[in-house]
Amino acid sequence: MIGRLNHVAIAVPDLEAAAEQYRGTLGARVGAPQHEPDHGVTVVFIELPNTKIELLYPLGENSPIAAFLARNPSGGIHHICYEVEDILAARDRLRAAGARVLGDGEPRIGAHGKPVLFLHPKDFTGTLVELEQV
Ligand code: CO
Repeated sequence: MIGRLNHVAIAVPDLEAAAEQYRGTLGARVGAPQHEPDHGVTVVFIELPNTKIELLYPLGENSPIAAFLARNPSGGIHHICYEVEDILAARDRLRAAGARVLGDGEPRIGAHGKPVLFLHPKDFTGTLVELEQV
């Protein structure tokens, strides 16, 4: 059911420093920061030949990234995103298997303008999983 790895998202305590590390030290193609108030994050996209990295930084009062950074002050992997062809079919299949879909279970428009859902990390070996319809 799941397809390609779309991205790995890393929460960072200093967005500019992290972007510069990927650009300078690691020699990656790094985009400009994008503010996404609906998701409570500012994102920097890093394009790799086979996938993307998303650097996440808190935006606004109730950012889920702020709580994550409070627990992980030096930053860390926040979630991984797999591509699916049909997000509603994927959701229904996962629910039937007992997996918990976060929020109200309805897909939201994610950082790439495509429908996304998040799955409870306790149901997936401690990893927050995002599904993105491509
Ligand atoms: Co993501």
